[in-house]
Amino acid sequence: MNLTAIAEQYGTPAYVYDLAAIRAAHTDLSAMLPGPAKLYYSLKANPHPLVVGQLHRLGCHAEVSSAGEIDAALAAGVDAHHILLTAPGKSAATVSYALRQGVRRFSLDSPVDLRRVAWLAEQSGTDVRCLLRVNADQPVAGLGLTMTGAPSAFGADASWIEADPAQFRGGGRVRIEGLHLYMGTNIADEDALIAQFDTAAATAQRLGPVLGELIEVDLGGGFGAPYAQTGSRPLWPSLRPRIEQVLDTRLPGWRDARPAVAFESGRYLAGSSGSLLCGVVDVKTSKGKTFVVLDTGINHLGGMAGLRRLPPLRPALAVTGPDDGRPTTRTTVVGPLCTPLDTFVRDADFPEVHPGELLAVPNVGAYGLTASLLGFLGHPAPVEVVCDGDTVLDVSHLVLAREPGPYDPAVTAADPAVGSLV
Ligand SMILES: Cc1ncc(COP(=O)(O)O)c(C=O)c1O
Repeated sequence: MNLTAIAEQYGTPAYVYDLAAIRAAHTDLSAMLPGPAKLYYSLKANPHPLVVGQLHRLGCHAEVSSAGEIDAALAAGVDAHHILLTAPGKSAATVSYALRQGVRRFSLDSPVDLRRVAWLAEQSGTDVRCLLRVNADQPVAGLGLTMTGAPSAFGADASWIEADPAQFRGGGRVRIEGLHLYMGTNIADEDALIAQFDTAAATAQRLGPVLGELIEVDLGGGFGAPYAQTGSRPLWPSLRPRIEQVLDTRLPGWRDARPAVAFESGRYLAGSSGSLLCGVVDVKTSKGKTFVVLDTGINHLGGMAGLRRLPPLRPALAVTGPDDGRPTTRTTVVGPLCTPLDTFVRDADFPEVHPGELLAVPNVGAYGLTASLLGFLGHPAPVEVVCDGDTVLDVSHLVLAREPGPYDPAVTAADPAVGSLV
């Protein structure tokens, strides 16, 4: 991929994704996971149709959390039966939309969530197969943004399920066929990955007899990869044998798919495929300090970091032209938004750059554009260029457009399931 040529042709800001990098990440991750195992691609990392389509062709199922992500998965060619809808706030509108689109698999977070899905499945005459999302009882050492082992909106506590299994057993058109144990994101340490999979498998081992036969245990993932920094995806050479050992101990039937095991990944699969190309709009001095102003900022990258949903964003901004021997100056690099939060680099040594020059942020194929504050201030979305190696396959941009009426015209104001939940 020639980033300079792409910027010259399509302008900046520009996200550039390379499908070859996605294939390489998928090959590496698959080789580090036990076989047989199912792999879900989490669309929240990057729902671009060509990215989703590539991962679908590589055999990934889709993990989605909204009507928009259901549409993105279907548009990319994913069969509705290969979509798993997860999220703590699955409203009646979202669930009924999913059912109408043919989605039949849900991750359930609570008895209310279960009864709502059951009610809507009954109304639509549809059988659904569900995983119970479980919050393990112990926190896992080494997890950064942890979603388990602590009070959490995600899933039901394992001890709650054990104490009151009748609330979680399903029935009618809902079959509980497994567990969903996603625990944390951006885990780069092999020991921490193993610790969470051991906790997950032990939790499944404990809850299996309470719930009946488990067809699938989704062990989560959270596989780490560099974000907006230079560097390569980590490789964990002994991850596969170590997970296999955990599974042989905790879930001995897994090799014969009793239960089948599954993993989820967004960041690892998509992160290294993307760069954000930024143009330098202005360079100026204010009270002795140098400021570089870019044509892109937290509206296009890093909004989620500001919300502490991602690690603090300190993008490595590489000068794409020759910068050998350039002097560096203490510099603050900002975006175009009218807020001091829109700062990529604060008073750090930075190569001297000039208006019109091109900079690139690497490793932003995951949690880039759609994890940002796209609507704030109304700047147009950056162009998104999808390449396969040196070949440009697609050039497009997102539009935030106003249309009459709600997203789903069939939606009603009230939650039709509420009466049956109390
Ligand atoms: C339930 C669930 N699955 C998968 C993911 C994707 O995680 P990652 O991008 O770290 O692979 C997330 C991220 O928050 C998640 O909440």
